[in-house]
Order: sequence, then C-alpha cells, then structure tokens
Amino acid sequence: MADNSLERLKFGPNKYSAFHLLMARWLRQRGHQERYCYVTLGGTELRDVLSVRFMDHSLISNVWSYEENKARFKEAQASSVRFAAAGVSVEVRHGSFFSHQRQSELPHIFFLDLTGVCAFGDYHIQFGELFQNEVIREGDCLLITSHLGHNPGWKQVIKQFDAEFAILGVDDTHSPSVRSMFRRAHPSLTLFKGLCRNQLQSELGITCFGAVKYRDTTPMGIYGYDVAQGKTELRTFISGVGDGYFDGVGGGFCAAEAF
Ligand SMILES: C[S@@+](CC[C@H](N)C(=O)[O-])C[C@H]1O[C@@H](n2cnc3c(N)ncnc32)[C@H](O)[C@@H]1O
Repeated sequence: MADNSLERLKFGPNKYSAFHLLMARWLRQRGHQERYCYVTLGGTELRDVLSVRFMDHSLISNVWSYEENKARFKEAQASSVRFAAAGVSVEVRHGSFFSHQRQSELPHIFFLDLTGVCAFGDYHIQFGELFQNEVIREGDCLLITSHLGHNPGWKQVIKQFDAEFAILGVDDTHSPSVRSMFRRAHPSLTLFKGLCRNQLQSELGITCFGAVKYRDTTPMGIYGYDVAQGKTELRTFISGVGDGYFDGVGGGFCAAEAF
C-alpha cells in the first residue's frame, strides 16, 4: 500500500557528493554520447536533476521523474514548476519508475534513487522486465542508491542470494563473508537475478563502474552500472569493480571487503 503522507524529503550534502563522484567517474570513463535522457525518482525536491543540469546543460535532453507517493508527487510537481521558470524542464509523473516506456532513441541515464534496500521484494523481477522490454538497453547508464544500514537478517540475505553466493563461492556459514558480499554487491546481485530470470545474461553485458558509500540520515551506498552488448558473467561482474569502491565517509579509496 503506497504511503501518501505529506513529508518533504530533504537529503544532506553527503548524498549529492557521492552522486557527483560517481557521475564524474562515469562521465570520464564511459560517457561518450553527447546527449542522454534522464529517468529518475522524484522525492519532493528533484535536487539530482539540478546537479545533472549543472554538470553540463546539454548533457540531458529529456527528464522524466517518477514519484509513486501522491503527496510527494504534488511537491515534486511544484518543484518542477519552479525549475521551469529557471529554464530546467522536468516531466514529473505520478507512478512507478518501473513503468517507464522508452520514448527516445537517445541513450539513457537511469537513477533509481531509493531510500530502501535494492535486494528484496520484486526488484529483480522489475529490473528483469526493464531489460527484457529494452527499456534499459545497451548504451545506458544505471545508478542505484541502496540502504546499507539494515537488512532483514543474514538468513534472509542468504535465502535471497543462495544461487549467486554458490556461484561466487561465498561461505554462507561465515557471517562476515555474507555481510561483505551483501554490502559491496547486493544491487549487482539483484540485477544479475533479473537478467537470469529472462535468460538475458548472454545478451546484455552489465559492468559496475564504481560504488560510493556515504552517510545521509542512515548509511547508504550508490552503485553505478554500464549496460552494453555482450554477456554478464557473475564472477567477473562482481570482481570487475576493481579499485572502484570509495568511502565517502572517510574520504578515500576503499577495499571491496571493507565497503
Ligand atoms: C530518495 S527519494 C528521491 C530524491 C531525489 N532524487 C532528489 O535528489 O531530490 C526517493 C523517492 O522515490 C519514491 N519511490 C521509491 N520507489 C519508487 C518507485 N519504484 N517508483 C516511483 N517512486 C518511487 C519514494 O516515495 C521517494 O519519494
């Protein structure tokens, strides 16, 4: 049941600092097209939209911002009216991010800016459908924020990712190994589940180009993905992040195991 209570969502600077770091890494390493469409989550302030506009006013062609909470959607609409007066156009939609239909051949940047955990429920099914329907396709960039402060218990984590842990050789009787893999990779494992559900792991090559952990009101991580033609092999997908982990709290590179 959607929560429709009125509440302004004002996030702190650490969130945007982490987002900017990851966008900078992507723009420098992978961004090659001149223009992208941007699909994001609304909240009430739409602050990420201002950031991408500031990075380069011509980076983004269209912006679609989804908000499923009715009260926040109204606030997001009011924000979009203020933005329009300043020349920043955002189409705010009341509905699910996962209902987005591709309307442009331009490559897209998708930002699933969650406050919750991108691991349980039906995220893998929803992402699987976006891949299957080519809403997210080769040439796109996908960013996901996910809550690192809690999980429903390691038993539930092991149940959710038992197949992936088996492939990766994670010792699921050793809580520190489960915790470490969960923190560094749970959105990746969710995306991989979505690919496998639709037998797309030999058709789409997803790579994680970096992840930044930060603290807003709670500990969070932001993870960045490149989508290309090719295949996604789980071990390479997880190990391929290389030096791409950053600790936005301590301010420095971070070992995968310490993420
Ligand atoms: C973290 S906030 C977005 C903040 C925004 N990016 C900003 O910088 O101001 C996430 C919002 O997305 C909404 N939301 C979560 N999952 C959603 C989904 N699948 N579709 C649409 N809205 C969703 C939540 O209600 C919440 O208001």
